[in-house]
Amino acid sequence: MVAKTEEDFNGLKEIGKIVASIRDELVQRTIPGITTKELDDIAGEFLEKAGAVSAPKGEYDFPGYTCISVNEEVAHGIPGPRVIHEGDLVNIDVSGSKNGYFADTGISFVVGEGEAVLTKICDVTKKAFEEGLKKAKPGSKKSRIGKAVFETARQHGFTVIKNLTGHGVGRRIHEAPDHICNYYDPWDNEILKEGMVIAFEPFISTFEEEAFLKEDGLTYATEKSYVAQLEHTIILTKNGPIIVTL
Ligand code: CO
Ligand code: CO
Repeated sequence: MVAKTEEDFNGLKEIGKIVASIRDELVQRTIPGITTKELDDIAGEFLEKAGAVSAPKGEYDFPGYTCISVNEEVAHGIPGPRVIHEGDLVNIDVSGSKNGYFADTGISFVVGEGEAVLTKICDVTKKAFEEGLKKAKPGSKKSRIGKAVFETARQHGFTVIKNLTGHGVGRRIHEAPDHICNYYDPWDNEILKEGMVIAFEPFISTFEEEAFLKEDGLTYATEKSYVAQLEHTIILTKNGPIIVTL
């Protein structure tokens, strides 16, 4: 969507704050021994208390309030009996709606002490997010965001997952622009607009560039790469981006 009115900005900020606080709560509670279903149930309670609706459940009938992806899973992991262990790479992605406004946020992190490469990939993902954010300006080409993400990944010896992208958000969970790529697409001439609302989500990978769909038809995974994601919902303005999911 393109946010224009004060109502738009406030509505986006309200749902942004809700999903961000649930994301942070789940990260805090991700300790060895807990299952992804237990974490998801906490999210369900918090969404209800906040008067918000899970976007994956509400829009796609996804079997969970949130997406929780562990280790080889990259995105859209289904909460279930999987037990979290020390050293796991976990991604928690929370998206929801309230009063007709949607926000989407996610983060990858290492549970306790893990392999050094896992911490590094999470750090590089944050860096890629920051570099991409600098290019998220009204009047700029959308493709400059992906260029910055990809270059940051390469500088640190990593690459990106090319078939998972950011997207427009706001009035629906996925809306135009359909793809905010994490690499430079020379054919993408779209110009970012004042007030445009996007979910920007770099996926940084140790070497594979394509995630495959698992047999469940929902979860994206890699064969042997580690992948980290960081996602925020952002309103683009001439005075700088407003991150509603901080
Ligand atoms: Co998300
Ligand atoms: Co998203």
